[in-house]
Amino acid sequence: MSQHVPVKRVTAPEITARKGGEPIVSLTSYHAHTAAIADKYVDFLLVGDSLGMVMHGFESTLPVPLELMILHGRAVMRGAKRALVVVDMPFGSYEESPAQAFRNAAMVMKETQCGAIKLEGGKRMAETIRFLSERGIPVMAHIGLTPQSINVLGGFKAQGREQAQWAALEQDARLVSDAGAFAVVLEAIAEPLARRITAAVPIPTIGIGAGAGCDGQILVMEDMLGLSPRVPKFVKEFGRVGAAIESAIRGYAEEVRAGTFPASEHVYTMKDPAPDPDSVSLPADSAGARASKKPKTTST
Ligand code: KIV
Repeated sequence: MSQHVPVKRVTAPEITARKGGEPIVSLTSYHAHTAAIADKYVDFLLVGDSLGMVMHGFESTLPVPLELMILHGRAVMRGAKRALVVVDMPFGSYEESPAQAFRNAAMVMKETQCGAIKLEGGKRMAETIRFLSERGIPVMAHIGLTPQSINVLGGFKAQGREQAQWAALEQDARLVSDAGAFAVVLEAIAEPLARRITAAVPIPTIGIGAGAGCDGQILVMEDMLGLSPRVPKFVKEFGRVGAAIESAIRGYAEEVRAGTFPASEHVYTMKDPAPDPDSVSLPADSAGARASKKPKTTST
């Protein structure tokens, strides 16, 4: 009798236990196919609300609805069998109150079966992080450049480049950690401050544009693949997938126009010896159907 042995998924506590150890590797993913490819190389996949900009062409992450996060969260869960899947809470779905955050985060976890959620904010979200963590929802925090706050921050700007900003950012990290976050994303935080925060908190810091001093790294997958038209300074392009896609599409279009695709190897042949098409008589009604499709001639 065959037995289905499920692959064990990485859990949020396992990520926390990696503090100070081998660097944690993570990427964003929005679809089943990229999740399936990345699954064996990463510790966790983030269904980031960056999908609003990367996949859906929005100018910012602000318009992303909860339903879209759930749809993509489900796809990633179907693709990835081993990595922890973390789903971002979109703007407006959690800031109002801990109760609102719980209601929506619980829906995300029920609908997607993901292992954790992420939300943006430090000090101001500490109470909510505690509320969720104490009720069975592992929370990844996100501080520094928090894209859902670009209208307050004045754009996509690096944080902590002036020493006057350090105390508040370090306090953010300490408070989300004390509140029970299992890890914290440090986005676009000046490298020396990110190092300092990493040393100060007992949970793993996951850097994106925050340097090698963090406990782990995350990048937007499309950015590191070379698929995004513009990337921030902190991105290294590990591939040229955009160029590869364009060259494949150009080749396809050229061959269809030249009549060289499809070739003989791309067609279905007959199982019996092929008859001469002109000698095949069709059943009367199908011949009639064909005849009836002929353009009508008008009598003069
Ligand atoms: O939405 C996202 O992709 C993120 C990462 C950049 C951390 O929040």
